[in-house]
Amino acid sequence: MRLLGIETSCDETGLALYDEARGLLAQRLHSQVDMHRAYGGVVPELASRDHIRRVLPLLDECLEEVRLGREAIDGIAVTTGPGLAGALLVGASIGHALGLALGRPVVGVHHLEGHLLSPLLADPAPAFPFVALLVSGGHTQLMRVDGFGDYRLLGETVDDAAGEAFDKTAQLLGLGYPGGPAVSRLADSGRPGAFSFPRPMLHSGNLDFSFSGLKTAVLTAVRRIEVTCEQARADVARAFVDAVVDVLAAKSRAALRATQLARLVVAGGVGANRQLRARLGTASAAEGFELFFPPLDLCTDNGAMIARAGLVRLRAGQRSGPGFSVHPRWPLEQAAGSDAGRAAGGAAG
Ligand code: KG4
Ligand code: ZN
Repeated sequence: MRLLGIETSCDETGLALYDEARGLLAQRLHSQVDMHRAYGGVVPELASRDHIRRVLPLLDECLEEVRLGREAIDGIAVTTGPGLAGALLVGASIGHALGLALGRPVVGVHHLEGHLLSPLLADPAPAFPFVALLVSGGHTQLMRVDGFGDYRLLGETVDDAAGEAFDKTAQLLGLGYPGGPAVSRLADSGRPGAFSFPRPMLHSGNLDFSFSGLKTAVLTAVRRIEVTCEQARADVARAFVDAVVDVLAAKSRAALRATQLARLVVAGGVGANRQLRARLGTASAAEGFELFFPPLDLCTDNGAMIARAGLVRLRAGQRSGPGFSVHPRWPLEQAAGSDAGRAAGGAAG
């Protein structure tokens, strides 16, 4: 089965062709970052309008790359939530229209399930069960994953998401939007210990996170330094990254202990963070748990992860359309709760 994946939940238009037997055939991504930068964040109406312009040309580019026509698509997977309502509607409308025109099945995919299963696009892919650390711009969650569609929330942020904390820190340091990669790079030249930031909820005794206090600590530090001093800004970035990575690594290891599992999967935009990868890599070697990341370019939003998750759901007989709706707010357990995913069953890979 050859699947088309469409992702338009936020500020990235992602299209991908995924072949059940051969893996990822082609993918295209258009980031709207340049368009939103002037506003310091995503402007929903602009995002929707840009997705409308991009989806079909990106699809044609994918098909041209593998010299196939639209009729070669056997099924369509499209993100139907959570995300920006207007942006989701663009992908969902085009996906369902294509399905109708081509006479192919369409399935709606939960954006976070896409992230969660994105490490399956790597080689080697993790086997079930595993603990997943999902760290994106909108979510920070630890989940226990026992199989397709079988997800249990272990803990999550009570306020800001980790990616959001990176983006806000970037803004405070004058690094622009979105800030994750820029903060990470600046932190490299920061001196460890020059600033000491709190590790929120590190000893809370549960698997929840909180990042809003850290943001306040960054704000206070930025007010104290000379903002033109590159070294001082780097020191703040370093203290911030050290604090976030400490908390994410400690809670992930606590989740492994609590579940007695020895396999950790990290997904979502912050999963691209070099310092986090390094810290967890060291812990994995020292403590003997297996560690999996999606390929670097599949950590942030993309169509391939939507196609991969959609494959599971289509194989389980799930269908959407011709009528459809989108779900801007949509807890993952609700999407997964049906045993459609589980019916697809079997080992990951
Ligand atoms: O998963 P994603 O692409 O979108 C959401 O579903 O939210 O994640 C985007 C987030 C942004 O907050 C961005 O700053 C962060 O991921 N991010 C990073 C890095 N690359 C992206 N944060 C830290 N280090 C990175 N290298
Ligand atoms: Zn995402």
